[in-house]
Amino acid sequence: MQNRDEALELWRAHNDDDYLYRHALSVEAVMRYFAAKAGEDPDWWGLVGLLHDIDFQEHPEEHLKHARAILEPAGYPEAFVRAVESHGYGLCTEVEPKSYMEKILYACDELTGFIYACAIMRPSKSVLDIEVKSVTKKLKTPAFAAKIDRSVIQKGAEMLGLGMDELVGQAILALRPVAAEIGLKGNL
Ligand SMILES: [Fe+2]
Ligand SMILES: [Fe+2]
Repeated sequence: MQNRDEALELWRAHNDDDYLYRHALSVEAVMRYFAAKAGEDPDWWGLVGLLHDIDFQEHPEEHLKHARAILEPAGYPEAFVRAVESHGYGLCTEVEPKSYMEKILYACDELTGFIYACAIMRPSKSVLDIEVKSVTKKLKTPAFAAKIDRSVIQKGAEMLGLGMDELVGQAILALRPVAAEIGLKGNL
């Protein structure tokens, strides 16, 4: 198990894409937020978020088939590898999200990308003033950010027993502290 600096170094050894970097930081922030809220360990959950797509840039067609081979030698325990693999449940793995942490990761992975897409369309280009209903409305508009799979977000919310308004609202709050780092401070 690594500290955050080492984890970031591992990420950089396998990734150099700016968008993927912002995505990793976004999911990290959401994981930390929900961990803190649940009285769990934000550092542990945060690293899962940071490294969840570790093999994506090198193996986009075999996403998560190579995560274990990267994470295990770096000292990440089985529970960590399992959590990472579970975010591809039904898409590229058969590992079902079981723990609360895994369900949050599953539900928030695509959602952070969707909130990003919504935020950069705003005049402010910011997540700081975005409203829940503007995001949930666009979720119901299939043509908007069409490549983002709504069914995953919906399934994640159901796994958590959360309404979509609640999940989106919490995710927005989670992203605000890292708005500048993820390119969503905009002009505010
Ligand atoms: Fe992924
Ligand atoms: Fe992801």
